[in-house]
Amino acid sequence: MMAYAIARQIYGNEIKMVCKAIQGAFFLPKRSWRKPLHEMAYEGLMSRKWTGIGLFTRQKELVAYLDYKRENDTWIEIGICLTIEKYRNQGYMQSLFRFLFDTYPNCSFRICTYEKNAAMIQCINRLGFRENHRLINDRIDGTCTIYYTKTPIDEKEAPLAHQAN
Ligand SMILES: CC(C)(COP(=O)(O)OP(=O)(O)OC[C@H]1O[C@@H](n2cnc3c(N)ncnc32)[C@H](O)[C@@H]1OP(=O)(O)O)[C@@H](O)C(=O)NCCC(=O)NCCS
Repeated sequence: MMAYAIARQIYGNEIKMVCKAIQGAFFLPKRSWRKPLHEMAYEGLMSRKWTGIGLFTRQKELVAYLDYKRENDTWIEIGICLTIEKYRNQGYMQSLFRFLFDTYPNCSFRICTYEKNAAMIQCINRLGFRENHRLINDRIDGTCTIYYTKTPIDEKEAPLAHQAN
């Protein structure tokens, strides 16, 4: 584990660097996508509808990235999640999610991934999301998208259930 990493919002001139990292990674496209994901990411961040946060090393190297959109006072949609390949499977994406949850303790979150993405599904499950629904044949290879939600109530229920055992 890295000795020190900081989570913070992505600033103006870092947007291009993040989009390049997105372009270099594999994301199974949805049938509905009309342009490459890195272009959608760029437009979303530049419009400020989407906010990007990153985990950085002390040397300011990007480790992990995610972006989100505030739908209203209650709901936040999480979009792209990416950990730089050499840093994967070391808990960094889960750390970045926890930073987001700590920033918005009273909010509920939505996220989706594709059914073949075992690492992302494991990550989502470990963070306490619940599966909400599946969209069949949503991806270009005919596989489905899985949608998840997490509310503050989900978290409050967990310790009570634990105490009962
Ligand atoms: C998905 C992704 C963001 C996860 O980032 P990460 O920093 O490696 O995630 P974490 O280390 O916090 O957690 C990953 C979990 O998946 C597990 N995992 C990894 N590969 C796995 C696999 N093939 N099958 C099952 N679990 C797997 C890890 O062991 C870890 O679980 P654990 O905490 O129980 O040990 C990263 O793999 C990535 O950037 N992938 C490419 C882009 C992508 O697919 N993004 C999501 C698109 S919807």
